[in-house]
Amino acid sequence: MSIEALLSDNKRLVDRALDRYLPKKGKLASAMRYSLFAGGKRFRPLLCLATARALGKPAKKVLPVACAIEMIHTFTLIHDDLPGMDNSDRRRGKLTCHKKFNEATAILAGDALNTLAFDVLARETGNSEIISEVGRALMEVVEGQVLDLESEGKRIGLARLKAIHQLKTAALLRACVRASALELNANKKQLKALSGFAGHIGLAFQIADDILDATGTAKELGKPVKADKSKGFPFIIGLARSRSMAEAEKQAALKCLQPFGKKAKILRQITEFVVARKK
Ligand code: IPE
Ligand code: IPE
Ligand code: MG
Ligand code: MG
Ligand code: MG
Repeated sequence: MSIEALLSDNKRLVDRALDRYLPKKGKLASAMRYSLFAGGKRFRPLLCLATARALGKPAKKVLPVACAIEMIHTFTLIHDDLPGMDNSDRRRGKLTCHKKFNEATAILAGDALNTLAFDVLARETGNSEIISEVGRALMEVVEGQVLDLESEGKRIGLARLKAIHQLKTAALLRACVRASALELNANKKQLKALSGFAGHIGLAFQIADDILDATGTAKELGKPVKADKSKGFPFIIGLARSRSMAEAEKQAALKCLQPFGKKAKILRQITEFVVARKK
C-alpha cells in the first residue's frame, strides 16, 4: 500500500476512535473538536500503528495510545499558534483556534485536550509506565518550545539547535513508538532500537518542517509560511545543508529498523515520507 493510502486509511480509523473519546456538547467540546478534526495528517497515530506492525502485533491494540498522543499533539499546536507564542492565524487549512473562537477558549481547549489524553491513557491502558512515558515526553516538548522561542533571531550552534529539535519534536515521536511498544510488551532491545529510530525521524521531521516553512506555500501547508524564518535549520545552516542533514537522519533511522526485518515495512515508508513530504 502507498503511504498516501496508509495515511488516509489510518486517518479514518483514528478519527472514528477520537470521535468516541471527545465530549459532544458545549462550547469547550466545539473548540476541541474544531482543532482536532481540522485536517491533520495523523502522522503520530500512524507511527503508533506501524510500531505495532513492526512488533508483529495487531495495530488496534495501540489505538488508544495513538488517539491520546494526537490529542496532545493538537493541544501543543493550539498553544503554539497563540499570540504569545508563534502568533499564527491559520492551522490545518483553517483559522487557528484562537481566531475562530477567542484566546481564552483556545487556551482552555488545549488544556482540555491535554487532560483528556491522560484520562484516556489511564482508562484504556491502566499502565503507569505508559502514562509516565508520555508525561515525560510532553515535559520535553514544553521545554523544547521554551528554548525554541528563546532562540528566535539568535545564531545558535548546530548542537544546540539539534538538542532543541530533539525536545520540541522528536520527544513526542519517541513517545509514540515507546508507549506503543510498552503496550505490546516489547523487550528492552526492541525498545532501544525504536527509541533510536524515533530520535532520527524526529530530527528529520522538524528539519523538513523548517525547510517547508522556507520553501513551501501556505495553501499546501495549511499554515502560514516564513513563520520560523529567524530560527530553525535553514536559518542556521542554509537550505542545502538542511536537506542533506535530513537525508542523513533518514538513513540513520532506516538503519535502526534492521532488526525488525520485513515487519518494519510501514515504518520504512514513514521514514521516506518524513523527508519527501510536501505538507
Ligand atoms: C506540525 O506537525 C508541528 C511540528 C512538530 C513540526 P504536523 O506536520 O504533524 O502537523 P499536522 O498534525 O499534520 O497538522
Ligand atoms: C511546533 O513547531 C512544535 C510543537 C507544536 C511542539 P513549529 O512552531 O515549527 O510548528 P508549526 O510550523 O507552527 O506547525
Ligand atoms: Mg513554534
Ligand atoms: Mg509554529
Ligand atoms: Mg514550523
